[in-house]
Amino acid sequence: MNLSDKKATLSISGSNETIEFPVYEGSVGPDVIDIRKLYAQTDMFTYDPGFLSTASCASGITYIDGDKGELLYRGYPIEQIAVNCDFLETCYLILNGELPNAEQKADFDNQVTRHTLVNEQMHTFLRGFRRDAHPMAILTGLVGGMSAFYHDSTDINNPEHRHISAIRLIAKMPTLVAMAYKYSLGQPFIYPRNDLSYTGNFLRMMFANPCEDFEVNEVVERALDRIFILHADHEQNASTSTVRLCGSSGTNPFAAIAAGVACLWGPAHGGANEACLQMLEELQANGGVAKVGEFMEKVKDKNSGVRLMGFGHRVYKNYDPRAKLMQETCKEVLQALGLENDPLFKLAMELERIALEDPYFVERKLYPNVDFYSGIVQRAIGIPTSLFTAIFALARTVGWIAQWNEMLSDPEFKIGRPRQLYTGPAPRKVKKIADR
Ligand code: ACO
Repeated sequence: MNLSDKKATLSISGSNETIEFPVYEGSVGPDVIDIRKLYAQTDMFTYDPGFLSTASCASGITYIDGDKGELLYRGYPIEQIAVNCDFLETCYLILNGELPNAEQKADFDNQVTRHTLVNEQMHTFLRGFRRDAHPMAILTGLVGGMSAFYHDSTDINNPEHRHISAIRLIAKMPTLVAMAYKYSLGQPFIYPRNDLSYTGNFLRMMFANPCEDFEVNEVVERALDRIFILHADHEQNASTSTVRLCGSSGTNPFAAIAAGVACLWGPAHGGANEACLQMLEELQANGGVAKVGEFMEKVKDKNSGVRLMGFGHRVYKNYDPRAKLMQETCKEVLQALGLENDPLFKLAMELERIALEDPYFVERKLYPNVDFYSGIVQRAIGIPTSLFTAIFALARTVGWIAQWNEMLSDPEFKIGRPRQLYTGPAPRKVKKIADR
C-alpha cells in the first residue's frame, strides 16, 4: 500500500475541529481512505451495509474495473488468460503471483494430480446423506469434513502447511463434486486417473461407470476448463469475504472454505447459474421466444418479484468480460455437439438483445453476467442443473484459498469484527414473569 499525498478531511456539524485521515493508493483503481482511527478520534463508526464503499482488505490477486468491464488476475486480462492458459496454470498464477514456466507447470500439475484421491472414509461420510440431498449441502459437509483428515497440515502460521492445504483442496474438489453426483444417481464412485488433465479427469469421474469408460471430448474439456478459469477468483465477493472473515478467527482452511461454499450457494451469488437455467427452461415451457416481451414486463415490474437471472452485477456496470467469453464457448460447444439450434440458447440471445435495448436495463447498467451463458454450456455437456453451483465452488476454491493465504501473510491482519448502528431498545429492567 502506498501512502498518497492526498488527505481526507472530516468535519462534523456542531464541532469546530476537523480530522484528517490518510489516503492510500492502489496500483490501479480507486484510492482508499484509512479510517481505522475514526472511532478512537470521533466515537463514531461508518455505516456501509453491503460494503458499497468499503475496502475490507488490501489484495494483490484480482482487479475488477466494473465500469470498463475489465477483469485482471495478477495483472493479466481474463481474455488473455482464457485463450493462452489452462486452469491449473491459472491456479498457479493466482496462488503464486506469476505464471509458471514449463518446468514449474509440470511440477504443479504433478502435485495436484497426485492429491486427487480422497480418504476412503469420505465415502462413508457421503453415504450418510439422503440420495436427493442438494449437491451444495453435500459439498459444504464434505469440505468441512476434510478438517478431520489432515491434522498434519492445519498449522495456519506455517506457509508449507498452507501450501499443502491449498493443493489438497484444489485437487480434491473435482473428486468430491463428482462423488456427490454419482451418489445422487446411485452409481459407484469413479476413482481419479492420473493420466488425464484436471478437467478431463473430472469429466471422466462424472460420466464414466464401471461398465463403460468415458472418452473425453476435447471441445467439451476445453469449455469446462474455461468455465473453471472464468470462475477462479473475483476479488472480495460475498463468498470470498466469508472465507476471509471465517479464516480470520484462525480456523483451519477446510472449515473456512466450507463457509465459502455455504455462502456461494445463495441465488444472488453462485446459485444464480442454476436459477438462470431454471428461468430459461420455464420460459421455454411457457411459450419460448414468443413470450419474451411479456416476461420482460414482469421483470421490470417491482411487485412481481421476478428478476432476470444472469443479469446485473454489484461491481460490473458494463458487460461482464466473462460473459463475452462464455457466449463464445457456448457457441463452440453447441456446434461441436450438434446442438446449434438449441432453443434455450436462442431464447437467451433474444432476452439479451431485448434487455440491451430496453431503457430499464440500460439506465440501471444491467448487463449479462457470467452465469447467463454458463448454464447453457453445462447443460449441453450433460451436467445437471443442481450441480452448477458445485462446479462454481470447485473453480472458486483456488481464489478462496489464495485470498485466505494472502490474508494470513498480511502483517496488518486482524480478526474481522464489523461494528453496528444499534437500533434496539435502550437499557431497561427485566420484570418478574407475573408482572409482564
Ligand atoms: N433483473 C431485474 N432488475 C434488476 C436485476 C435483474 N437481474 N438486477 C438488478 N435489478 C434492478 C434492481 O431492481 C434495482 O432497481 P431500482 O434501482 O429501480 O430499485 C437496480 O437494478 C439495482 O439493483 P440492486 O439489487 O440494488 O443491485 P445490487 O448491486 O445490490 O445487486 C445482483 C446485484 C444481486 C447481482 C442483482 O443484479 C441480481 O439479483 N441479479 C440476478 C442474480 C444474478 O444473476 N446473480 C449473479 C451475480 S454474478 C455471480 O455471483 C457470479
